[in-house]
Amino acid sequence: MYKRHRRLRANGAIRDMVRETRISREDFIYPVFVVEGEGIKSEIDGLEGNYHYSVDRLNEFVDSVHFAGIKGVLVFGIPETKDETGKSAWEGSGVVQRAVSKLKELDPELYVITDVCMCQYTDHGHCGILDGDVVDNDKTVEYLSRIALSHAKAGADMVAPSDMMDGRVLAIRETLDKYGYSGVGILSYSAKYASSFYGPFRSAAGSKPQFGDRKTYQMDIGSVREAMDEIAEDVAQGADMVMVKPALSYLDIISKARDRFDVPIVAYNVSGEYAMIKAAGKSGMIDEKRLAMEVLTSIKRAGADLIITYFALEASKWIEEGI
Ligand code: PBG
Ligand code: ZN
Repeated sequence: MYKRHRRLRANGAIRDMVRETRISREDFIYPVFVVEGEGIKSEIDGLEGNYHYSVDRLNEFVDSVHFAGIKGVLVFGIPETKDETGKSAWEGSGVVQRAVSKLKELDPELYVITDVCMCQYTDHGHCGILDGDVVDNDKTVEYLSRIALSHAKAGADMVAPSDMMDGRVLAIRETLDKYGYSGVGILSYSAKYASSFYGPFRSAAGSKPQFGDRKTYQMDIGSVREAMDEIAEDVAQGADMVMVKPALSYLDIISKARDRFDVPIVAYNVSGEYAMIKAAGKSGMIDEKRLAMEVLTSIKRAGADLIITYFALEASKWIEEGI
């Protein structure tokens, strides 16, 4: 006697009933890029279907998010001016701060997470304050706390430091608590690799390093145990949720993190992963919808609770259509 596995694959009904992993709209966090200026909604090169919005047109963004049934967004700002210390990152009148207030005004229920980093705001494009050619960890941590606080003041529900400095989660937690924002959460980009998958994002955000690379602060692509150490540290410092980034080439990291930690694991399905699927779809080599859904399902199957993805709007539609 042998088992007939095919019995449970015989038709769509039974396949759906026994499926072990489902993705739903609640799993998604949708990124948005906010620019200075007025009347702007322009499609982003390399991230088709995603747009740069000026603050005054965010109502259109919120409408699209409502229509898709998505609950959480991740806000990135693209300032008009950059300088050595990224001053435009923490000003109350900064683009992210105004965007957050606007989003909360348009929909108080929308869960607004802000990316906390300096690379869009510094003229050198690194994720912190430089000391010569290297990013000064402790000085950067002070600035990140200031940025996080300004986002909290603007109404952010959660802040997400993406810089990869050591000790920033604790510093941000203490700052938020000290100023009365103990209710604002922290999603830490804990295991963020020095990846080549970030290309389209860096063009979209204007955050390419002007010299060198990010390898002295982002993780080496070959390391696994170090990722667990990073995550453990961030959880100990007070992170409410932790992130693995990128997602697709790092499913092993997501899976191990799921086994070891009891906080929500967020995976960032990054810009290059999105662009690859779009490009392959356009060339006719693959079925874009099915591939995207397969990739998103695999990220969830690996153990992610939430997925930050540029596919969020489309994937919600595909889920609805039953693809
Ligand atoms: C940097 C940052 C990066 C992304 C978000 N914030 C990567 C980087 O430039 O190193 C990447 C997101 C994506 O590729 O979609 N703080
Ligand atoms: Zn950065």
